[in-house]
Amino acid sequence: MQPRGLGIESPDYVWNEAEVEALEFEGDIASGEQLFAEQCESCHSAEGVGQLDGSVPKIAAQHETVVVKQLADILGGRRDSQASFQALAGLDTPEKIADVGAYVASLPVRLASGKGPGDPAALELGETLHQRDCSPCHRRFGQGMGERYYPKIGGQHYNYLRTQLRDIAVGRRRNALPTMMAIVRSYSDEELGAVADYLSRLDWPETELE
Ligand code: HEC
Ligand code: HEC
Repeated sequence: MQPRGLGIESPDYVWNEAEVEALEFEGDIASGEQLFAEQCESCHSAEGVGQLDGSVPKIAAQHETVVVKQLADILGGRRDSQASFQALAGLDTPEKIADVGAYVASLPVRLASGKGPGDPAALELGETLHQRDCSPCHRRFGQGMGERYYPKIGGQHYNYLRTQLRDIAVGRRRNALPTMMAIVRSYSDEELGAVADYLSRLDWPETELE
């Protein structure tokens, strides 16, 4: 069954059944806050900033749909990180996934991010590539679109972005959108670094956030 096509419009995209169940629940922020303190903040930090070295992603203010979907995908073995897979063992019901998803999404935007080398020519290239190839889905400031499951990627840590882009390119991230994979695969290593560095520096104008 291909339950929710909205946004993941590529005909080859295969949904994970588990996330569909979690997406049916309305998350309870108070219960999510407790789960987060007990099971998540040791790695992601109390603010949801993660680690600036990119070993743990920033998740504060990520769209609720995206958080729920990624949690279910990690639990479903569709992303390769053993550490994060084991860390989520306590999320053993769809309600808990929905609750912690609501809490993470409610955390305020955090500007602190691990950045790339900052070479001006590379940043210019990164901007050109982002505006042309990525912003149609991830939008101008990398703020994504919650209702379409497009993650916020602006202000994400550089090293994390680089790792994910490499995993997307080689198919190790098995929930990636095939149309995005084709774009990312066509990039050279220099182009991937440039777009990641540009994205890691994007700011969050209040008015642009939905
Ligand atoms: C042991 C450290 C650790 C703990 C504890 C942990 N995580 Fe993570 N988390 C990670 C790492 C590392 C990744 C990146 C996974 C990858 O590269 O595929 C990640 C990825 C994620 C993502 C995907 C982010 C994205 O941008 O796609 C979400 C959402 C997330 N974690 C939420 C949580 C929640 C909620 C909890 C608590 C229930 C939690 N994590 C506990 C280390 C941890
Ligand atoms: C057709 C829409 C589309 C385009 C174009 C696109 N993406 Fe994505 N992107 C997505 C979707 C959807 C996801 C989440 C897929 C999933 O994990 O289910 C995603 C996920 C990501 C992630 C992982 C985010 C995280 O938090 O782990 C990164 C990084 C990313 N995209 C970067 C890019 C870059 C850079 C470009 C341009 C070179 C790009 N994307 C183009 C739709 C798109």
